[in-house]
Amino acid sequence: MQTDALLQAPPQRRKRIATDKDADRRRELGQFLTPDPVAKFMASLFRTHDRDVHLLDAGAGAGALSIALVRHFCRQPRPPERISLTAFEIDPILLPLLTITLEQCKKECREAGIQFSATVFSENFIKTATAMVGRDLFAISPLRFNAAIVNPPYRKIRGDSSERRLLRRVGIEASNLYTGFVTLITRLLTGGGELVGITPRSFCNGPYFKPFRAEFLETMALQQLHVFESRTAAFKKDNVLQENVIFHAVKGTSKPDNVIISSSSGQPGGEVSERGMKYTSLVNPDDPEQFIHLTVNDSQARARLAIGQLSASLSELDLSVSTGRVVDFRAREFLRDHPGQNSVPLVYPCHFNGGFVHWPKGKSRKPNAIECNDITRGLLVPAGVYVLVKRFSPKEGPRRIVACIWDSGQVPAALVGFENHLNYFHINGCGMSLPLARGLAAFLNSTVLDIYFRQFNGHTQVNATDLRNLKYPTKTQLERIGHKICKFELPREGLDPIVEIELF
Ligand SMILES: C[S@@+](CC[C@H](N)C(=O)[O-])C[C@H]1O[C@@H](n2cnc3c(N)ncnc32)[C@H](O)[C@@H]1O
Repeated sequence: MQTDALLQAPPQRRKRIATDKDADRRRELGQFLTPDPVAKFMASLFRTHDRDVHLLDAGAGAGALSIALVRHFCRQPRPPERISLTAFEIDPILLPLLTITLEQCKKECREAGIQFSATVFSENFIKTATAMVGRDLFAISPLRFNAAIVNPPYRKIRGDSSERRLLRRVGIEASNLYTGFVTLITRLLTGGGELVGITPRSFCNGPYFKPFRAEFLETMALQQLHVFESRTAAFKKDNVLQENVIFHAVKGTSKPDNVIISSSSGQPGGEVSERGMKYTSLVNPDDPEQFIHLTVNDSQARARLAIGQLSASLSELDLSVSTGRVVDFRAREFLRDHPGQNSVPLVYPCHFNGGFVHWPKGKSRKPNAIECNDITRGLLVPAGVYVLVKRFSPKEGPRRIVACIWDSGQVPAALVGFENHLNYFHINGCGMSLPLARGLAAFLNSTVLDIYFRQFNGHTQVNATDLRNLKYPTKTQLERIGHKICKFELPREGLDPIVEIELF
């Protein structure tokens, strides 16, 4: 697409031309432009402003966020005197659009009596900002900002990538571009500076985001978090399947007593509902993982309270949870469609059926068995009773945690393989008693735990760390639940009353 054609196109068409470009290229640049109503909502979250606003828009795209915030400032009863905007955008194709947007900002500021200036860096924000925060000899003198608004690019960054190396040099461990962007922005903010961002929700939990949470929660004070009821609503046109969160945070170590948690459908003009939440409930100060819990409605608050009463850690139950060790594409030559001589059962999520594993599966695209030999033996576990949990489950599914029991009593085999898309609970690498397994599976499948779990896990993965970090009923309680569940395949609805009567 020629930039001239872009400039000549009317505004709506310009946006479409820019957004219709080669999808692969857009994915590579993490390019999902913020729809205007979302940008307007984000801008409305800024609470105060200095007389001189030094505003940063990193990954500015066509400038949707910048103009929304400038308009917000223009409409304040006492607007700022000056706004100096610094925008970073790596994609040269978007620069003409950004220039047009900044011209519009200037015009609207002039009408509101605000001096406006803008500097655009058409370069890699990670490269420039890491040099700035690392006080690199050749870097431009570090810029400081008292306001930042961002929809950063979302893309995983490999361990050996240049971005990862640059970030590591300034002590930032980021597995995704977006956390790298946000951490750099927080470092460039002055004390009291405000940041509003829209990002995937994945940073709220999970081991990969632990270093990000540690620094972000240490240096920034979250004021408000906003979630959309539908995963796709905010970025419908771009087919973004990530669940997003909008956050407003202020640079500083002192945390507010309460944080606002708001939600809306994500449709333009949709109603926004809000509730207050104690900061210590949002992030439990005793939680070494620093998970961020988003309690959006009353049923979530009740589930939070109920699960909060539980006290047993997994280690107190003598239980551990691990990820299935059979990575099928690495063990391809040993996989068998059907059980046979020298093979043992191999369990995939597709073998889940009701509360128990049904194995072997007659018509299955997945193998049912794995050859047992010196190479594969280390991937297998001894026969026994294990509780298995699917590692991937969409938000739209009826349950985020889907647990099932593997009972070797039903299958004559000395060893069993759990495929890598499963987590499995065990005692020192071996199985557990059937009543304990039944009680544990019932608890994991319960509605109350599902409602609780969704508050901190907003993506499709159920990590072993998430399961490790939960609090559980005591062993006696789990076994009592297990004994009560006498039917072999109890429907889900039947489990809830048994779990709830025992626990709450
Ligand atoms: C998710 S889009 C958001 C764009 C804009 N802020 C908005 O909200 O509409 C992220 C933008 O960051 C740009 N980008 C990606 N990597 C970048 C980098 N390393 N440095 C600067 N910009 C980058 C992309 O080209 C894209 O325009």
